[in-house]
Amino acid sequence: MQTQIGKSVFNAKKLLSNGKLVAIPTETVYGLAANAFDLGAVSSVFRAKNRPSFDPLIVHVSNLAMAEKIAIIPDELRQIVNILWPGPITILCKKKSSIDNLVTAGSDFVAIRVPNHSLTLSLLDKLSFPLVAPSANPFGYVSPTSARHVFDSLNGKVDYILNGGSCKIGLESTIISYHNSEIIIHRLGGISALGIAALIDLPIRINIQNNSNPAAPGMLDKHYSPKVLLRIISPKNKEIVDENSALICFGSQRYSKHKYILNLSKTDNLDEAAQNIFSFLRKLDTLSINCAYAYLVPEYGLGAAINDRLKRAAVH
Ligand code: TXA
Ligand code: MG
Repeated sequence: MQTQIGKSVFNAKKLLSNGKLVAIPTETVYGLAANAFDLGAVSSVFRAKNRPSFDPLIVHVSNLAMAEKIAIIPDELRQIVNILWPGPITILCKKKSSIDNLVTAGSDFVAIRVPNHSLTLSLLDKLSFPLVAPSANPFGYVSPTSARHVFDSLNGKVDYILNGGSCKIGLESTIISYHNSEIIIHRLGGISALGIAALIDLPIRINIQNNSNPAAPGMLDKHYSPKVLLRIISPKNKEIVDENSALICFGSQRYSKHKYILNLSKTDNLDEAAQNIFSFLRKLDTLSINCAYAYLVPEYGLGAAINDRLKRAAVH
């Protein structure tokens, strides 16, 4: 059956309370939500995404008090989320027994965040349970930043899509934990490392896993991948490119003769580039081209997270 797209929080609440799946808008990307306390519903999320059961699910709550009910939150992380929630930061904390091992893929740690989107916050406020919500895309494919993206790849597999427009940030949340007097970043995302450093007087270590058996199992080398072959090239490199191709570039970077030029931000704005990156990667699959290329963007601000996604989307 065709999945309905709409703006009814009431409808979303009813479906979720009955163990159904609802795609929800957030400021980062759309999530595929289910009742975190209903293990049948949680299993359906893994199935709908074709996600391996070793890859745990992020839990979404409406506020810090609700987070404290499902996890033990160290003061250092509380200090950060007090300022950044609702917002694009996810914390990894020791779980309480209300969170099942199925959600965390057997880990004692659960990933939690409060998303910053008015529709989803109003939905969470009305629920008596937290929501698991991984990004609403088939495992390994590009994350969705609009209701249409969700529909395009999960039509028929999700019971309702709550339409909250296009995602304001466009990159997934930054994932952090606290260990041995350090803040550890496990995934670069919507808040930069410098943005976190400004909030707390502790060393920040970036520990992004890049192999096939990582601590944050979603961080596989190959992820966020369009179907068309994508290669990272440098504007300075004079290598011969296939002209029947598309190029993802940024600002005033010089480009050669590609059939399509997709500029992430003509005004060198990395926030705009973040908003565009996933829809551009999806767009590649709609063009009739032999292959695609991308230039990396500058590493400041959200640039590091954008480059992380581009590298994972590309062939190795
Ligand atoms: O911005 C976001 O975080 C979005 C929106 C919908 O909130 N969600 C999202 O979920 O990106 P997902 O599942 O696509 O990515 C979550 C990442 C995965 O790499 C997963 O392996 C990791 O977080 N993760 C989740 N729970 C974890 C846990 N208990 N321990 C370690 N890593 C975990
Ligand atoms: Mg994902």
